[in-house]
Amino acid sequence: MLEEHELHGDTYAQHSAFQYVIITRDTMNIRELLARQFKNFDIGDARSGCVRPLLGDSIFTQDGAPWDHSRKLLAPLIRRPDLSPFEVFEKHFQSLYSKIVPSEHDGKEVKIDLKEYLFDLTLSVITEFMLGPSASTASGDGQAFTEAFNTAFKWISKRERLKAMYFLIDSFEFRRSCNEARALVDKIVSRTSKMVEDSAGMESKIALFRLMRDDSDAAEVRDQFLSLLLAGRDTSGSLLCWSVYALSREPQVFTDLQMEVRGVLGDRVPTAEDFRNMKLLDQYMCEVLRLFPPVPINGRFCNTDTTLPRGGGVDGQSPILCPKGALVAFSTFAVHLNKDLWDDPRKFDVTRWSHERNLKDRITDWSYRPFSGGPRICLGEQFAVEEAKFMVCRLLQKLKTLTPVDPDGKDVDLSKGNWVDDVKYHVGLTMSPDNGVWVKMTPSGRD
Ligand code: HEM
Repeated sequence: MLEEHELHGDTYAQHSAFQYVIITRDTMNIRELLARQFKNFDIGDARSGCVRPLLGDSIFTQDGAPWDHSRKLLAPLIRRPDLSPFEVFEKHFQSLYSKIVPSEHDGKEVKIDLKEYLFDLTLSVITEFMLGPSASTASGDGQAFTEAFNTAFKWISKRERLKAMYFLIDSFEFRRSCNEARALVDKIVSRTSKMVEDSAGMESKIALFRLMRDDSDAAEVRDQFLSLLLAGRDTSGSLLCWSVYALSREPQVFTDLQMEVRGVLGDRVPTAEDFRNMKLLDQYMCEVLRLFPPVPINGRFCNTDTTLPRGGGVDGQSPILCPKGALVAFSTFAVHLNKDLWDDPRKFDVTRWSHERNLKDRITDWSYRPFSGGPRICLGEQFAVEEAKFMVCRLLQKLKTLTPVDPDGKDVDLSKGNWVDDVKYHVGLTMSPDNGVWVKMTPSGRD
């Protein structure tokens, strides 16, 4: 996608599978699309039809008034000041750590691909935070749900690639896994409601509880939960993967971050308050999200004839016509790596966040938008960033060394050029390292 922009410019148009598509990395156009002309663009049937067999009607598949209703319902549940996810983070970090560094390995070197472990961790965390401990992915129903959800997700990723022609990809396996996942969530929701009735204080540990209580329609609770899972699971998993991937390739940053973490926390488990005192960790997360935005490409369908500010005329600086029915695709990845917007954009450099234009400026001018913008801005940003920071802190506390190896276990030579140039990307609905997150770790032996 980067090469195409170098070839055709910031904004260009093409016909793809009977669909007129405008492709842009121009921040003015993206802001227009997502914020200023929000009402003129929909997520459209290409997304909603593609995922509806799994998600039914919920925030991720809706436009207009139904979407507005869902957003108002869900926003206060995800950002609940009275309910901290940190207890759930720690429980699942402990479970992860016991799997990747079994006790008999203590003090010895471990070589491992962390990718699937990190994806499993994010699924367990978000499921437990939303639906409570009885939904644990370690239990029978939880495990069956994970399998069904993963299979359905695999098919959705294939359908998504065909955009408006998504319906060409279908199968018995896809339909069966969607139905299984939905039936299992129904079961978990009804079990959770019963548990909450029976045990005082339980509701305060479950994010979706208010929805279960206020809304008598159990089908809506199920669909909204599945939407949150789709929106939040692979995105957070990707962020965790890239965070560890980059940490293993940046030895100086590893050392500096470890000093910061040990200085602020010692061996203590972090709190949200601690993160305010960890500037380098903040800069590190920004740089990971800039170079490796988990949602690299996105799009909207135009619901009326309109224009976008730039991309038309001989020099591409005039407004461009955007007819009703056109798909406008934009790439956050291409914006974050645009050399007109960033110095040496392919360089992993945490210091770019410590001077000049800070994070606020970058968000204001739309040159840094890993969580999108406008009325449909991500609802889970704080949750996802806190989760990633938490896991990075805990790993830094537990490990003496973390370095990259290839899938054969051989050390990766970091002295040859910029490691970012060698990254292979796996791009589906989200973007993750294609060859896994292979690392060599030495536990520090500290508790
Ligand atoms: C690093 C992790 C994450 C990234 C990079 C991310 C990114 C995004 C982006 C780019 C969108 C906009 C999609 C669009 O407009 O088409 C979005 C929407 C959304 N995200 Fe996230 N997300 C992350 C984690 C989460 C988590 C953990 C949750 C839930 C707890 C979540 C919930 C949502 C929801 C509900 C929407 C839809 C909002 C709407 O349509 O109004 N996200 N996210």
